[in-house]
Amino acid sequence: MKKLFIETYGCQMNFADSEVVASILKEMYSLTKDIQEADLILINTCSIRDKAEQRIHKRLRELEAYKRKKRTLQVGLLGCMAERMKEELLQTEPVLDFIAGPDAYRSLPQLIADSQHGHTSFNVLLSKEETYDNIMPVRYDANGVSAFVSIMRGCNNFCSYCVVPYTRGRERSRSPKTILGEIEDLLSNNYKEVTLLGQNVNSYYWKEEGQEVSFAKLMAMVAEMSPDLRVRFATSHPKDLSDELIETIARYDNICKCIHLPVQSGSDEMLQKMCRVYSRESYLERVRKIKEMLPDCAITTDIIVGFSGETIENHQDTLSIMHEVGYEYAYMFKYSERGGTLASKQYPDDIPDEEKTRRLEEVIALQGELSMASNLRDVGKTFRVLVEGASKRSDDQLFGRNSQNKVIIFPRNGYQIGDYVDVTVTECTPATLLSN
Ligand code: 5AD
Ligand code: SF4
Repeated sequence: MKKLFIETYGCQMNFADSEVVASILKEMYSLTKDIQEADLILINTCSIRDKAEQRIHKRLRELEAYKRKKRTLQVGLLGCMAERMKEELLQTEPVLDFIAGPDAYRSLPQLIADSQHGHTSFNVLLSKEETYDNIMPVRYDANGVSAFVSIMRGCNNFCSYCVVPYTRGRERSRSPKTILGEIEDLLSNNYKEVTLLGQNVNSYYWKEEGQEVSFAKLMAMVAEMSPDLRVRFATSHPKDLSDELIETIARYDNICKCIHLPVQSGSDEMLQKMCRVYSRESYLERVRKIKEMLPDCAITTDIIVGFSGETIENHQDTLSIMHEVGYEYAYMFKYSERGGTLASKQYPDDIPDEEKTRRLEEVIALQGELSMASNLRDVGKTFRVLVEGASKRSDDQLFGRNSQNKVIIFPRNGYQIGDYVDVTVTECTPATLLSN
């Protein structure tokens, strides 16, 4: 059988999509981890920031060299960049034999066949229905413990800076039946943790034969499948993180106490320009509700610095909201203008790059302090850890995560991957909890 190598960039959704792609092609190709022996290389791409796209262009230069060595090698580009740049990519990147957007993966066998006959082929049609509902992903790169399960696709939010609604199309939910079926299969293969994925999981909604399923209901259904199964989810939009969901997280021990709640900015003026549909105060109200109902819950976030017109005061508002929430962890970015978005049409990208860098460094330094403070509060506490693997530093140590999604490194003591272990934290760094 021919050999397939898949390289994935970007978010968890993209990693989940690559597993769907591997499944669609499993009759035609077996997967390889060695790029040298590949007959087909697929690059699953991300468009979220310009830097992400530049990285892919650079990678394609390297793939040209592979192609010169092996004439029969085919290269296909998948994902958000395929959608954003469409057939233009085939002209500017002759190394590509075909491109397929995020809703076009079922057509991959056809695209591959067409391109073998000397055509350049592409399918970047977005769909209102496609959820790859009935496709059982191939978990080719998994640790055998923890898996991503995609529960919805697309995004309807149209935040003014974000390219995702254009690359992934409209929001649509997947049927609970196939979601539960996929998790049943993971359980029978000894998986212990699932992360339910969507751009905005809170607006998950399914209605069938009089039965309505909200995201909170779906979480409860998954949590009830097995007390030994941990349930996580990402990502939540603060505008519709419901009380019902917070109550559901509180009700089930096996729903992890960690909420990723991207704030983007602490300034009302910026939030409004970003079309986030919440204010600093209403965001903080959600945080208070979480802290009241889930006192041991970690809160993590995404932050953008240097959005159009961001003043020093606006930036200070971001630093102060970080202090006020006390995030456990944050993904922090410089604003990158994306063609086609509302911001690119209406708001100039007017903060100089050096100033964006300076603000980013401030935000990163503050988050370092907040993460360290949060970790110091955990020293002396005991957590239930799900073991994921051997520590990078030593084979005598294992690593896993607690419910709050913090990494804990501890002595092996005969434990195995997939075990639950109660570990008492004795030391920490800003990034890790340790036990000796
Ligand atoms: N520039 C910088 N960061 C962005 N994000 C989304 N779009 C952009 C952009 N144009 C960030 C947001 C989002 C995360 C996935 O990426 O913080 O939550
Ligand atoms: Fe990147 Fe966003 Fe596409 Fe994920 S959905 S691959 S983060 S652009």
